[in-house]
Amino acid sequence: MSKPRARSQVTKPRARKSRATRSRATRSRATPRVSVADLMHEGARRFTRAHLFYGHGTDNAFDEAAALVFHALRLDHADAPAVYAKSVDAAGRRRVEELFERRIRERVPAAYLMKRMWFMGLELEVDERVLVPRSPIAELIERRFAPWIDARRVANILDVGTGSGCIAIACAVAFPDAHVDGVDISTAALTVARRNIRRHHLGRRVRALRSDHFAAVGGRRYDVIVSNPPYVGTTEMRSLPREYRHEPRIALASGQDGLDSVRVILREAAAHLRAAGILVVEVGNSQRALERALRALPFTWLEFARGGGGVFLLTREQLRAHEAVLAVS
Ligand SMILES: C[S@@+](CC[C@H](N)C(=O)[O-])C[C@H]1O[C@@H](n2cnc3c(N)ncnc32)[C@H](O)[C@@H]1O
Repeated sequence: MSKPRARSQVTKPRARKSRATRSRATRSRATPRVSVADLMHEGARRFTRAHLFYGHGTDNAFDEAAALVFHALRLDHADAPAVYAKSVDAAGRRRVEELFERRIRERVPAAYLMKRMWFMGLELEVDERVLVPRSPIAELIERRFAPWIDARRVANILDVGTGSGCIAIACAVAFPDAHVDGVDISTAALTVARRNIRRHHLGRRVRALRSDHFAAVGGRRYDVIVSNPPYVGTTEMRSLPREYRHEPRIALASGQDGLDSVRVILREAAAHLRAAGILVVEVGNSQRALERALRALPFTWLEFARGGGGVFLLTREQLRAHEAVLAVS
């Protein structure tokens, strides 16, 4: 990034200045030139001092500040770094300041301030009705679940707990011939999901259904069931950074050990999977609790090049083989 240029080069006037020139000079003394880069650095400094929590799309103060500055100034990230040296007018600075203030005072995640988030490169509308999309499962969808399933035979996909619709929509984009159902118990979340489905013109292949886990999908069977369910336990819920309190509680909390929702999915998924179908579920840092609770299950824990973890895969056949254990879990 280029360093911001030093403040203006005011030269001593040779002749008497007109009124307009004088007032311009006065203004430029009162409001020093501020560049996009200046605002990004200022935001990063203030965020660091305020000990904000990152983890809703960025992982550091500078990227968080940059996202808000670009959004407030309606800049395109594709134009970076050329726009870093651009000068920002007073109105732009006010818009940036308002976002910085809310980020610091109210601890609102940047995605909610911008009402935007990207998932597998797809722009989604988000607000406090849905979790901020950030699942590492995006990387897996991008790879079309290779090497775990032959992508050519994937015709139907189910996303349990669809929230903003991010996983369902990404699946539909990655598998252009597949039909995708995204289910959620929250009608508020489904409203957001449907907007995003329309936004990506996927209304013919992606359905958003109100359902308590599998309750509304009836006898339908899928090649892939994918889920980022709620998985935070009671104790962890109490200690979450303030940023998480802006997210719907129903998207995070899942009983005493965080595994209530995951247990239902494990018990019921096999009945909704086709032969050789796969189940992929994110449980984040509840991984250890799940392994302890269900030692007999042959979980495959997936690895991600871009970071993140706590995502397991089980085949329908593995689930079937452990039905008895799951029934009493
Ligand atoms: C962790 S969020 C995931 C949202 C989205 N899939 C994502 O990755 O950003 C979990 C979602 O599961 C939904 N949910 C919670 N309990 C549910 C249930 N019993 N049945 C279906 N969905 C449920 C929540 O409303 C929330 O949208």
